[in-house]
Amino acid sequence: MTEIIQTKPQHHAAIEQLLDQCFGPGRVARTAERLRERNRQIDAYARLYVDGAAQVRGSISYWPIRIGDTPALLLGPLAVHPDLQGQGVGIALMRESMAQIDMSRFKAILLVGDLPYYQRVGFAVAPEAVRMPGPVDAARLLVYTGEASPEINAEALAGAVRPAPDLC
Ligand SMILES: CC(C)(COP(=O)(O)OP(=O)(O)OC[C@H]1O[C@@H](n2cnc3c(N)ncnc32)[C@H](O)[C@@H]1OP(=O)(O)O)[C@@H](O)C(=O)NCCC(=O)NCCS
Repeated sequence: MTEIIQTKPQHHAAIEQLLDQCFGPGRVARTAERLRERNRQIDAYARLYVDGAAQVRGSISYWPIRIGDTPALLLGPLAVHPDLQGQGVGIALMRESMAQIDMSRFKAILLVGDLPYYQRVGFAVAPEAVRMPGPVDAARLLVYTGEASPEINAEALAGAVRPAPDLC
């Protein structure tokens, strides 16, 4: 039996192993990684996909950030074991975890990824005024602001993006 469960601190080593398998060693050099340094993930939103032997096969994490003064979340990494890719696990992990997020507290979810994939769950290209702490392809900087407000509020989503561990 496979299932989606909430991430606990004891899972972190298995998640690191999965991320190495999915992304390779270059992953810590990415710009999004700068927002995870000196930050801590919000385990209440993080989810795992585990198989019948309790092995971690998929993972999604969230990190508190500010976009200018606006409280928000960084989504990622999202990773699914190569043997299970293309079976809906990634979308299921996003739907399950995003349903837990209080969008009145965190006004947006930000990520760096492929629009054709993430638009399936409501992401759109972020406003130009959102500034990441390093180089990012603007077409891959995506944001979700919730079902109730599909139009991205360009005024609220402007400024430098930085870690916000105080929001945990
Ligand atoms: C990207 C990833 C998380 C997707 O998870 P998954 O469980 O394989 O995806 P799902 O099964 O939920 O969705 C599959 C669908 O999305 C599409 N898809 C997958 N990755 C895509 C991408 N990068 N761009 C566009 N579409 C994509 C598939 O073609 C498939 O389409 P279909 O439903 O029309 O057949 C997974 O492939 C992975 O871990 N990749 C390596 C790490 C990575 O790149 N993570 C994302 C960082 S941005």
